[in-house]
Amino acid sequence: MDVFEAINTRRSIKKFDADHKMTSDEIDQILKSAILSPTSYNIQNWRFVTITKQELKNQLSRLSHDQRHVSEASLVIILCADLNSWNKNPERYWKNIPEEPRNTMVESLKKSYRDKPQQQRDEAMRSCGMAAQTIMLAAKSMGYDTCPMKGFDYEKVGKLINLPDDHVIVMMVVVGKAAKPPSVRGGQLELSEIVFEDHF
Ligand SMILES: Cc1cc2nc3c(=O)[nH]c(=O)nc-3n(C[C@H](O)[C@H](O)[C@H](O)COP(=O)(O)O)c2cc1C
Repeated sequence: MDVFEAINTRRSIKKFDADHKMTSDEIDQILKSAILSPTSYNIQNWRFVTITKQELKNQLSRLSHDQRHVSEASLVIILCADLNSWNKNPERYWKNIPEEPRNTMVESLKKSYRDKPQQQRDEAMRSCGMAAQTIMLAAKSMGYDTCPMKGFDYEKVGKLINLPDDHVIVMMVVVGKAAKPPSVRGGQLELSEIVFEDHF
């Protein structure tokens, strides 16, 4: 499947085949695609919690206003971010380049995030948003469907997954075999309403 086909056919699916199991290789393939998503300064601040155990998916479904697609999906990925990743041995984000440019990069990175909680949080949202789309398109190209989700109790889900204090949950993506086609698209806005040449 080419990229445009994946983009055009990706939809948020609300009913999955509850009996379908993904292989660990398939799950790995999706995650290996996800980590190629771009991040500012290559900070790779996303952390992915993968859930396939039925009992946990049921609990997550209950914490998601009983949305059934959470328990029926084969895989739930909770996209989290480490707000302090900028300060956790950031040299490793540039391990492949020579020492001098690496040090410059790391200094600049630290300046961008040190004492800037809003920047740290914004970066969490940017990085996980990018990774979520990669996950959805990769899954689609493998014959799976997905639904991105924010309709859940963030605090209780955080407790369920032992979210560390300096991490945030950004969103979930559920992945599985569609058991029902999506309903008609809600309707896209016209480009003329949302695209501005040069300025608003
Ligand atoms: C950040 C985000 C959160 C969403 N949360 C939910 C959710 O909790 N439950 C759900 O069924 N769909 C959820 N959706 C899916 C949207 O309703 C869906 O993307 C939108 O209606 C457009 O439809 P499409 O994805 O099929 O193109 C969410 C989508 C995004 C991007």
